[in-house]
Order: sequence, then structure tokens, then C-alpha cells
Amino acid sequence: MAGLSDIAGRRAGLPRRQRIGRFVFDIERVVIVGVRVARAWFTLLTPRRAFRSERADVEALPQQMNALQEGESLHQPANAVMDGEPGFVGRGVTVAAAPAPDRLLEGWGEATLAAAASIGSRIGWHGRILFPPDAKPNRDRHNAGVRLSEIMATANRLAGCDQTPTDSQVYVDGDVRRVFVGIDVDLGELLLARSLGADGVIAHHPIGSKARLGLPSVIERHEAQMRAEGIPAEVAREKMLDRRRPVAHALHTTNYDRVVDAARQLKMPIMNIHLAADLIGRQYFIDFVRRVVDGGKTTVGGLIGELKTIPEMEASLVQPELWLGQAENPVGRWVVQMAAGTNGGAPVYRTYYEHGIDTILAMHIDERDLRELEQLQRPQANLVITGHMPSDSIGMNRVIDALEAQGLEVIAGSGVIRP
Ligand SMILES: [Fe+2]
Ligand SMILES: [Fe+2]
Repeated sequence: MAGLSDIAGRRAGLPRRQRIGRFVFDIERVVIVGVRVARAWFTLLTPRRAFRSERADVEALPQQMNALQEGESLHQPANAVMDGEPGFVGRGVTVAAAPAPDRLLEGWGEATLAAAASIGSRIGWHGRILFPPDAKPNRDRHNAGVRLSEIMATANRLAGCDQTPTDSQVYVDGDVRRVFVGIDVDLGELLLARSLGADGVIAHHPIGSKARLGLPSVIERHEAQMRAEGIPAEVAREKMLDRRRPVAHALHTTNYDRVVDAARQLKMPIMNIHLAADLIGRQYFIDFVRRVVDGGKTTVGGLIGELKTIPEMEASLVQPELWLGQAENPVGRWVVQMAAGTNGGAPVYRTYYEHGIDTILAMHIDERDLRELEQLQRPQANLVITGHMPSDSIGMNRVIDALEAQGLEVIAGSGVIRP
């Protein structure tokens, strides 16, 4: 069959009316053949629920893609200002019976922070971290579904949060049975989730709206973490503010509701779970380091070797690395600096080193901050970068375990490393 460009070339000499008439005729032939092929293809398909349920979405996809191609880029930068923090929770450990928190409780007020700081908790503004249920995943897909707001309550309960942190939110609530879970979610993941037949989306990093703009208040957790290590209150406050300010200004500039707007328009239930997962992950690391560090004998290199045995690390292309210090240095006094919205950067980490901390474990750090820390030239100062995606996955995997135990089908993607 001739291509459309061939047709145009061959008919170039014909009167305009005549040329158009032939052109339409050929197009009809193409359509007729296409319909025959499509009919043959459909007859090869065995009827199944997933295909039928996705049909409306599949039909709508071309329009959605056209709209994106006209005005939107599918690419959205990763959340460079956000961090993730993994914790002690062992996969598949029993959850103690706990009263189910009420529905979404927004806000994480100063009063709560002050109370937590006065208690001097090493962890900060949350209670006892629980473990996911010791139950085999419920494969009964005929359950009635779970509302995203109930999933938020579950995550809060696992992390010991009595309120939903300000960096987490149910943007569009709804019942879900088959949910897509990713570290970052943008327009591409929304459409991917629909095409995979998911009826809901859960991200780790804040997607938009109040949760995204609420990240700076979670950064205030740096203050409580520093005070828990004996750093004077006024110093901890000042250094936390040094870290919070640029992040708040950067977020102020962003197109903060772009993806949430799209989810509303697509009527896709969607939420994110940030701090709760990071608290779980942080506690995992604290317990792990306590277990493997043997007094003053363990070197930083030895600690990194142990970290690489964590299943999420083994399955990751990104491994724990030493970005400041020497492998033969003793671990000494250490701190797991996670679950505070984002990494502490030079202002916070310099303060730790100046107050007797030898080794900091963090998920990531900006290159500019690392250069600044290198200027300290403190021989025993070590910075272990555990790796962003595997570390965030540790916390999210414990949440996913709990969801599967409730009978939800989880499609893990967008950076979730699920060994
Ligand atoms: Fe995280
Ligand atoms: Fe993160």
C-alpha cells in the first residue's frame, strides 16, 4: 500500500477537488483494514476482568497524552529537597493491638514540638513505632476495599504518630483494592497507574498541596534531634532555621498543585506517606547500627559493609558510601540523621561534629553542603550516605507489608525497591 506522502506526490498535478476526493478514498481503505485487524485481535483476547475494567481508561489515554504533549512535560524533577529515612521495623513482625486513630488529623503544631522536645525523646514527635502484622498477605481480592484515609491511619499507627504529619496528605480520598505505590509520583505515574488498572496511588514524597508546602515544618524536627544529642537549645534552633529557610523559599516558588490537580481531574484517589515511613526507616537504621557496632572496635568501613547486607541495599544499584572521613576511622559516637523532612546539610551536620558526634548516617546531601563540610578538616568526622532510594524503600516496604496483610494488591514502582 502506498504511503500518504506517495499519494500526495503522485496526485500533485491533479485539480485540488479531485486530489482530495482520492485522498479520502485511500484513507477509508486504511481504516477498513485497521478495523479488520482490530477485530481479529480482540477475538484472540480471553475476557478478563482487568481488561474490561481498564477499557474506559485506555480509551481516554490518547486524549490525555495529547494534552500532555501540547502543553506539559511528562518529566518532573525528583524531590531534591526531600529526604527519606528508614527504620528498625522488621518485616512481618506482630503489631500490638492499638486503637485506630481517627481520620485524617491535619497539622503538627508548635505545642506538640515543644512537648516532645521537653521529653527529650531521641526520636522526636512520635510515640512507639509498631510493626506490620505478622500475617501472610491476604490474597482475597474480593475484599471491600480500603479508604486511603484508613491507610493513612495505619501508617501513622505503625510509626507512632498520633496525628498525620504536615508533609503527608490524602489529596483525593476513595476506596482502593489495587494500589500503585512509588517514591515519587507525577503525571507520568498517574497515567501509568491507570493503565495498570490501579484504583489508587500512594507516593512517599509529598506530591503537592498542603503536604508539599508543609515540609518546612517537618524540617523543624532537626532541632529536636540535635537537642537529643545534647546540643544547646538555642544553637539547635538557629541551625535548624538555617536549614529550613532555603527549603521553604524553594517550595514557595514551585508549581505546588500541578500533579494533585491532575489527580482530581482524573478522579484518581491519591495520597502520600512521608514522615511516618521515614520514622519507621530511621528506627530500623538505629536498631541496625546498635546491633552491628561493637564498642570502639567497629570502623566506618566495617559499618558500611554491614549496611550493604540490608535486603533493600543488596537489591539496589546504589550502595552505602563514605562521603566524608576515612574507612579505617572508628564509628565512635554516631547519629542516624533521618526523618526530618530533608537532610541537615552543612549547617546541621557541622553542628553535630562540633558537639562530639563522629559519624552521621544520612540518606543524601547536596554537593555544595558536602564541599562545605570538607572544609572542616576534622579527621574523625565521618558522613555515611546510605542511599536515597534503598533507604526510603525500607520505610515504605513496612507500610506495604501492612497493606498487603489487609488484602490490598500493591503494584510497587517509581523507585520502590522491594526485595
Ligand atoms: Fe523518605
Ligand atoms: Fe526521600
